[in-house]
Amino acid sequence: MAVTNLGIKSAIPSRRFDAVIIGAGGSGMRASLQLAEAGLNVAVLSKVFPTRSHTVAAQGGIGASLGNMSEDNWFWHMFDTVKGGDYLGDQDAIEFMCREAPKVVYELEHFGMPFDRNADGTIYQRPFGGHTANFGEKPVQRACAAADHTGHALLHTLYQRNVRARTHFYVEWMAIDLIRDADGDILGVVALEMETGEVMMLEAKTTIFATGGAGRIFAASTNAFINTGDGMGMAARAGLPLQDMEFWQFHPTGVAGAGVLITEGVRGEGGILVNSLGERFMERYAPTLKDLAPRDFVSRSMDQEIKEGRGCGPNKDHVMLDLRHIGADTIQKRLPSILEIGHKFANVDATKEPIPVVPTIHYQMGGIPTNIHGQVVAPKNGKSEVVNGLYAIGECACVSVHGANRLGTNSLLDLLVFGRAAGNHVVASKLKERSNKDLPADAADLAMSRLAKLETSTGSERVQDVANAIRGTMQKYCGVFRTDELLQAGYKEIMVLDERRKHVSFKDKSKVFNTARVEALELDNLIETAKATITSANARKESRGAHAHRDYEKRDDENWMKHTLWYSEGNRLDYKPVVTKPLTVETFKPKARTF
Ligand code: FUM
Repeated sequence: MAVTNLGIKSAIPSRRFDAVIIGAGGSGMRASLQLAEAGLNVAVLSKVFPTRSHTVAAQGGIGASLGNMSEDNWFWHMFDTVKGGDYLGDQDAIEFMCREAPKVVYELEHFGMPFDRNADGTIYQRPFGGHTANFGEKPVQRACAAADHTGHALLHTLYQRNVRARTHFYVEWMAIDLIRDADGDILGVVALEMETGEVMMLEAKTTIFATGGAGRIFAASTNAFINTGDGMGMAARAGLPLQDMEFWQFHPTGVAGAGVLITEGVRGEGGILVNSLGERFMERYAPTLKDLAPRDFVSRSMDQEIKEGRGCGPNKDHVMLDLRHIGADTIQKRLPSILEIGHKFANVDATKEPIPVVPTIHYQMGGIPTNIHGQVVAPKNGKSEVVNGLYAIGECACVSVHGANRLGTNSLLDLLVFGRAAGNHVVASKLKERSNKDLPADAADLAMSRLAKLETSTGSERVQDVANAIRGTMQKYCGVFRTDELLQAGYKEIMVLDERRKHVSFKDKSKVFNTARVEALELDNLIETAKATITSANARKESRGAHAHRDYEKRDDENWMKHTLWYSEGNRLDYKPVVTKPLTVETFKPKARTF
């Protein structure tokens, strides 16, 4: 069906809300719940049904120092997060998140989230990578788990609460672009209904991006197909910066050849990584935490084993995750989804055979810069200033609590803490007492011109060819280990693809499905994210966290304790200092990262 209203601005329907949230994953629904329960008129847009958002794929747990299994506290959690992030995280935001963690987990428990239980009725917690007691002394059990489908349970819990609170859901709607006025204030979004092709302006006093990550800029990814960086693309086109985009996390255990996630919870429950010689090689790389070292560390160690010829399989291109010794009963109780994934995607019975695994793109540490209330901030006249009316939360945001490498379970925590904080901040800003600003005459121009171009373009490029080329390029040139040569070659290829992207068109214009339009719109977001990533990575001349650079093997605190800011216009970079001062405690000073 054709896109309606194309080029007829006055005919574009418009609806007014107090708040519009783009994305119905964990962060979006946590924020919307706060707003709807406070009586605000809130709309949530989602490309998929809310319970199918990518949060559903989070398996292992939510990090919170409840101390149900042994002694734990928020300060140890904070230390692990700062060190895990290789000292690039902002310590004020990290303190806030780790202090808030028990509160948001208990709230979920009261919302009815079906956590696993200990014999005494408390929430079950499992060990996870980089989670330690007493500042790195020994592993601690901090991941609050609902078997190995914690994200699934979380989404269902939040969706039900939102339905009760009368949140309006716009399901299978895609936001195309922000509406920004001459003062730079954000007044809502222009969006497309995927089924009908109807375009609508959703006016809002507050717009919250909760659009998730952009893992689909890589060929091998644990991410859902919807993760195309839509929030980042819209922010970039609105002239806003993207922060720390060079930092992408490879999860150590994606199923080899399929990319599907095998939770770190497997290693939390006792699973081990072995090479072709049958060695538990992580003992050599991380003598204290072994298989539960942070993800950047484990992924690099696996890559090293493979490069040195100790990989498994005919091509020696993966290692094995062995969980047989855990026992079938525990596997069935604690890791039922892993049994199913092993069976369906690797053709193995994980109670009897190891699972072939390889580091796979999983998470972006960077995103749209925000403060701890979720407000988007951007430099203006030499100062960091809030962008009026715009918030970003969850994976699309960079607050920055994950620094250069996120700890497992801190993503579910991040989306709960900052989804809730953004909701609270919006409620406190007394939106009800203000009216919506009038839209400028050109409110829908950017979005409509992008749609119109798709209808009129006579170019010869196909959307999927360019999208696949982006994924292949990022995978080849921006992987676990990087070099100047690789990054410079990757940069050139991405710039060529940026040009090719401008010439995409539909072969037969009389038979264009809306899904094809959606993919074309997503392509614009993929390329912005890929440009941000490769440009930022090319510029950072050190190794830190997930940015492992063979030509600059060491972390360089003197020159690179700073956040990267990338701007689409002119493909330009700027920097801002890391916040090393926490809210109430002393700074954790950078140290060598050994585990
Ligand atoms: O391994 C996992 O279960 C993933 C968790 C996470 O990314 O936090």
